[in-house]
Amino acid sequence: MLVLGVETSCDETAAAVVEDGCRVRANVVASQIATHAQYGGVVPEVASRQHVATIVPVIERAIADAGVQFRDLDAIAVTAGPGLVGALLVGVETAKALAFALGKPLIAVNHLGGHLAAAFLEHAPPHAPPTYPHLALLVSGGHTALIRIDAPGATRLLGATRDDAAGEAFDKVGKMLGLGYPGGVAIDKLAATGDPRAVALPRALAGRDDLDFSFSGLKTAVATLLARRELPRDQELNDFCASFQAAVVDVLVRKSRRARAREGLSALVVCGGVAANRGLRAALAVAAAEDGFALHIPPPKYCTDNAAMIAAAGTQLLARGALAGLDLSVDPGLPL
Ligand code: KG4
Ligand code: ZN
Repeated sequence: MLVLGVETSCDETAAAVVEDGCRVRANVVASQIATHAQYGGVVPEVASRQHVATIVPVIERAIADAGVQFRDLDAIAVTAGPGLVGALLVGVETAKALAFALGKPLIAVNHLGGHLAAAFLEHAPPHAPPTYPHLALLVSGGHTALIRIDAPGATRLLGATRDDAAGEAFDKVGKMLGLGYPGGVAIDKLAATGDPRAVALPRALAGRDDLDFSFSGLKTAVATLLARRELPRDQELNDFCASFQAAVVDVLVRKSRRARAREGLSALVVCGGVAANRGLRAALAVAAAEDGFALHIPPPKYCTDNAAMIAAAGTQLLARGALAGLDLSVDPGLPL
């Protein structure tokens, strides 16, 4: 089963060819980060226009990299939401045109479902794919959620953020520290040589029984500290980044452990851009060893936005016969 994935929900124009829902034959990501960085965040109209200019070459490159012909494809899977409406439209209209011209099935993929499916990519023995049921921690720029997954598409939300997403907190704090956009990667890098105990920062909803998150208080605490002093530099900056990262990682790990134990699940899947964070990956590895659960975190390139995960999710939908029509539209607010 050979599926072409197309992803344009935000600021990456991406196409990938995936075989049997797991073997990545080609994975092309054209990032617009350099364009948006000068504005300190993604400018939707600029994103749409750049997708228009890039989508066809990106798809052609994926087909060439995979060493296949368009006629070899079994289906075309595309992100239909959630995301920026104009950006989503570019991918969806392109995928519809391809599906029509090639006479191939079209599959509408939920971007969040795509992140969840990333855990199934590139599984060759001895690495087994996640088994069902499992717990998923989805941590991206727009979402922070704990989800119970009983089967592909059978999900139950256990907890979510009440305000900012974890990635959003990384990006906003990165901006306050003068690290540019997006801040997540920069904070991760500097935190590696910082002291996580240097700056005392709050852990919201830590003592509570629920599985929700809140990061706006942490963001305000950072803003308040920075308003009283000069921007930290050198080792002090590293310490600040390490302390902030530890505050985010602590609550993500604590709530994941609580949810897994409460639901009696034996595996945890972690996905979304923040799953690339080295501090989070290391802390979860320790938790998995202590609590005895299987931990599945995709390689970083499949944590951040990509089309291989869309093709993987599309293959699961194809197996269930969930095809879209050529009247497919986008849904910027599509829930999981
Ligand atoms: O999943 P993603 O690529 O796009 C969304 O669907 O939102 O996630 C992007 C988010 C951004 O907020 C970015 O700062 C964050 O993931 N991110 C990271 C790291 N890499 C990306 N956050 C912390 N550490 C990282 N290494
Ligand atoms: Zn994403």
